[in-house]
Amino acid sequence: MKWNPDSVLNVLGQTSYIDDVAEPRDILQAVIVPSPSAHGRLLRIDTQAAGQKYPGAHFLTAADIPGENQIGNNLPDETLLVDGEWHFCGEPIALVLAPTRSEARRAAALVKLETEELEPVTDPRVAAERGLFILPPRTMRAGAVEKAYARCAHVIEGRVDSGGQEHLYLETQGAIAWPSESGGVRIVSSTQWPTGVQKASARILGVPMNRVEVETTRIGGGFGGKEDQATAWGCLAALGARVTGRPVKIYLNRHEDITYTGKRHPYSSDFKIGLDGEGRILAFEADYYQNSGGVCDLSPAVLARTLFHAVSAYYVPNVRVTGYMCRTNLVPFTAFRGFGAPQGIFVVEAALAKAAEKSGMPVLELQRRNLLKAGDTFHYGMPVEECRTDQSVSRVLENCKWEKLRKEIDSFNRQNRSKKRGAAMLPLCFGISFTKLLMNQTGALVHVYNDGSVTVSTGGVEMGQGLGRKIAIIAAKSLGIPVEWIRVESTRTVTVANTFPTAASSGTDLNGMAAQLACAEIRKRLIAVAAGCHSEAKAGSAAPGLVDYNICDGEVTRSGKPIGLSWNELVARAHSERVDLSAHAFYSTPGLFYDDKLENGSPFAYHVYGAAVVTATADVLRGTFTIDEAYIVHDAGDPIDLLVDMGQTEGGFVQGLGWAVLEDLRFDDEGRLQANTLSTYKVPDIHFVPGMNVEFLTNVPNPKAVLNSKAIGEPPLMYAIAGYFAVLDALKAARPDVEGFYDLPMTPEKALSFLTR
Ligand code: MTE
Ligand code: HPA
Ligand code: MOS
Repeated sequence: MKWNPDSVLNVLGQTSYIDDVAEPRDILQAVIVPSPSAHGRLLRIDTQAAGQKYPGAHFLTAADIPGENQIGNNLPDETLLVDGEWHFCGEPIALVLAPTRSEARRAAALVKLETEELEPVTDPRVAAERGLFILPPRTMRAGAVEKAYARCAHVIEGRVDSGGQEHLYLETQGAIAWPSESGGVRIVSSTQWPTGVQKASARILGVPMNRVEVETTRIGGGFGGKEDQATAWGCLAALGARVTGRPVKIYLNRHEDITYTGKRHPYSSDFKIGLDGEGRILAFEADYYQNSGGVCDLSPAVLARTLFHAVSAYYVPNVRVTGYMCRTNLVPFTAFRGFGAPQGIFVVEAALAKAAEKSGMPVLELQRRNLLKAGDTFHYGMPVEECRTDQSVSRVLENCKWEKLRKEIDSFNRQNRSKKRGAAMLPLCFGISFTKLLMNQTGALVHVYNDGSVTVSTGGVEMGQGLGRKIAIIAAKSLGIPVEWIRVESTRTVTVANTFPTAASSGTDLNGMAAQLACAEIRKRLIAVAAGCHSEAKAGSAAPGLVDYNICDGEVTRSGKPIGLSWNELVARAHSERVDLSAHAFYSTPGLFYDDKLENGSPFAYHVYGAAVVTATADVLRGTFTIDEAYIVHDAGDPIDLLVDMGQTEGGFVQGLGWAVLEDLRFDDEGRLQANTLSTYKVPDIHFVPGMNVEFLTNVPNPKAVLNSKAIGEPPLMYAIAGYFAVLDALKAARPDVEGFYDLPMTPEKALSFLTR
């Protein structure tokens, strides 16, 4: 009965992904004809020459879409195939199908386009000047900033920039679709959101959702890049399958994936911060110019999270923060681990760094003086509870021996002219729940087969984050059987319907809770059978003595003692007594509310806290640097699987470091991605990774989540912001006379230009 978790199968190479699905003989391979520039208008498509040379190829355009040519989920501004204007480089203009991918590619290259070029906008501030917005700006306020400045000893303003980031999931985007007898399709898709692919495909095909089935076994990483951005590829495969009546596969190569698909939003921001003579922040204002890219995608939700995290782990009584979703002609920027929070946190940390510089107070003191504490209120009106900022910061400073470290660094910097060291601390406070209330719901379906084996299905997608492992542990604990007896099934729209993406770090919180509820229901029925009173239980009258029964390690116990009835025997007995061995459950996060007009409420189930210290060494002649050590103290609640949570913490942090000090997502003025290969777009490798000392707070159960756990997927990414400031600290040791700069990623070029200013 033993079933191995994904981690074991992954190591053995036994897990299967889109490209491992056996291809039927009549399958057609699909490629797109991409838009040739960042902004233009399509006048005519000529496939004649291509069709003559490749008679086995099919060429589909917007005119071939049987339903509505629209896949925009938040705003109807995204066509599946260009019909008129296009908005970014690599937008699908036509779909070309052929028996092999290379033939499809060659045929696509012969498709002639008659076009009109339009002027591209790439800079969000330029877009804002021209009034090019996805939606109107959004503002959150607390207190009265203007009045507060009058009481400030220091008022500091500045500009902060942060770059985008490529997801670089190992498995690129892809899907396979089979036409089905219902007039719809069955799709396997590498997506974080099977229901999203189902809904959009139904819209494209002009069929009801019950004609489209989507299945996702697991994905080779998503990191937010397959929350909405996987949908188009699923829809294209569906369209091809429906029009040709043959199975269609689309699977991007790395170069196509990097150039066509959305990434983390770059931001450009202005801040104003006011502090009193003791370093207390009295007021904070910011304007965030979010580079939203060519279509809406998830930009409004990402911006919301920026605004919610505008003052990070600090208490600020007077706040005014405004976000602008600037429509540019770059790829559709989208969800990426942290989801707008890193961009916001970088701004307030930059403001504190600059305030320290101007006021002469050490930045660590400013940070500590303003830490959130229980009893405070977030600027969006939610009370601060179970706050662990101070505890985490104190502990991380202890772990890295901060006083000693600072002395060592200072003495190193006195003794060395060409190398300088630096260090920085970052506190963390990250809200858990989808900021869009509706999305905080999911379901689970549990079957106990009559041989005792168990299958659990939920709306959650396994993407390497260990969701399947956690669900199996939750189900095992709930049923009282060993975890190896549980198999977690692929995510399918026919087993659990109307779900939302596995995202917002809440995959386990939501799906784990739904699985637990379904298991609890089955357990209740089985206990009644064990107690010999299932018919009474059925009649609704709980028999006396029922509470004495339990299921433990696959054995039925009464008052703690085994009664000689195994799980398998119990299940067989229940089956023979005609007891339902399946259960569906639904879970929606309780207690969430938010008033969009007042920008006030409790949008999060709870917050995740922690703190990090990062150290760095810079070569101040060359501008190069290394990240040396990271100390992280993190509040993971009661981890469901300690190793998974450690992996998420280290992995998230390293991915964040990539964003903060390495990955330089450069576009040229024409809106073309220049960093479109792994030789020009450098991501962290094993040599780049610093020493990591991760500690989880102990005895911090979280009653708001399943088994007292805490969401872990995204929060640790933010610790990497300390990496930027550690390098800056090192650079400033060489040039204390030059003002700091806040333009992430920190690259050797920027470091050198600072050093030679
Ligand atoms: N870890 C791995 N290995 N692969 C991923 O794609 N995605 C991250 C995080 N950790 C990701 C990952 C992101 S962006 C999120 S929101 C969460 O996992 C989603 O899963 P969870 O909600 O189950 O934690
Ligand atoms: N996080 C991730 N994805 C989302 C969110 C969020 O807060 N809101 C909508 N999609
Ligand atoms: Mo994660 S960015 O919420 O998929």
